[in-house]
Amino acid sequence: MSTLPLGLRPAMGWNSWNTFTWDINEQLIRDVADRFVADGYKEAGYEYIVIDDCWSLKERDAEGRLVPDPAKFPSGMKALADYIHSKGLKFGMYSCVGTHTCGGYPGSFEHEFQDAQQLAEWGVDFLKYDYCFKPRQMSGELLYKRMSLALKNSGRDILFSACNWGEDGVYQWIRESGAHMYRSTHDIQDHWESIKRLALSQLGQECYTGSFCHNDLDMLVVGMYGGSNNGFIGSKIGGCTELEYRTHFALWSLMGSPLMIGCDIRTAEPSTRDILLNPALIAINQDLEGRGAYRIKPEPQWFHTDEVFILVKVLTDGDLAIGFFNLSDDQREISLQFWDLGLPYASGFSLSLYDCWEQRELGVFTERYAPTVPGRGSHVVRAKLARR
Ligand code: GLA
Repeated sequence: MSTLPLGLRPAMGWNSWNTFTWDINEQLIRDVADRFVADGYKEAGYEYIVIDDCWSLKERDAEGRLVPDPAKFPSGMKALADYIHSKGLKFGMYSCVGTHTCGGYPGSFEHEFQDAQQLAEWGVDFLKYDYCFKPRQMSGELLYKRMSLALKNSGRDILFSACNWGEDGVYQWIRESGAHMYRSTHDIQDHWESIKRLALSQLGQECYTGSFCHNDLDMLVVGMYGGSNNGFIGSKIGGCTELEYRTHFALWSLMGSPLMIGCDIRTAEPSTRDILLNPALIAINQDLEGRGAYRIKPEPQWFHTDEVFILVKVLTDGDLAIGFFNLSDDQREISLQFWDLGLPYASGFSLSLYDCWEQRELGVFTERYAPTVPGRGSHVVRAKLARR
């Protein structure tokens, strides 16, 4: 297990919600842990296995403790945590700021310190903390501070994943509250328009992400292909194409979002694994300095659309991660002038480009690079300065 400080990099893992919602149990979680090891997810950096909502009974016990549903988790949470830890992975759970979770189970309001203690005793390493049923007179900011303080003093390192959907000016106060990541968006759905809407909503917010408090664009839908048991998330919508999933993964990687897998990895297609395990994209997402990506509007400007843009992320070693995104429906040439990267011709440098999706060198380019990108597609390169 890593010894790096909590939240240094965007978290990577799996979360039960997108595919399974209420239909969760300990065997499923164990199977996911097994697949993390067997199918290369652990080796690629995925670490947290997170149970989302609907894991407890509807009432606390006589001492006010949360009780795992014995029908879903007959061995209890400590045994499940031990199993996950035995695989060298980390265990995440879910609660809520309010009196109830979004699914109607007990929330942690006025039980914050007791629940943090309980999670620590079970061996939990990550808490996703939702925003439903918040008493109206209470400040959300204060309630995130409360749980943060409770977790930090629980005696265990527990990564704090805030989930208030970008509401109440969260950008202005979440880093100071102590949270390691924060949801900036409403819930993702397994279709293209949702992916596009979420990504566009965070352009311009690049200064509100970085080490120890990462902007979380929501769990990935890569590889779901409509495979949710929940109509709203996807079963009634029908999923995305492989091309759309690639663009989704590239956007989340460049934008520094945590990478929490949401599909059923037990039945994932090889092409889904190829996306989720892409080493070049993961390296960009996990880059140590954790900088947000800046946006360049490509030339020519005549197509006046926000749907075609370039994201550039400055990496620790001096390379640049450059994503060419075409969220429109029609193929486009997307032209990048190196001047706009701070690299004038007079510098004497060109750029040597590595194609992250194709995983091959593209050669050395001077002054300008202009790939043609299909509608809903992405092209991502890692650029290294090369002296002419
Ligand atoms: C909210 C969150 C989701 C999920 C559900 C669970 O909608 O945003 O990510 O946790 O609650 O009920």
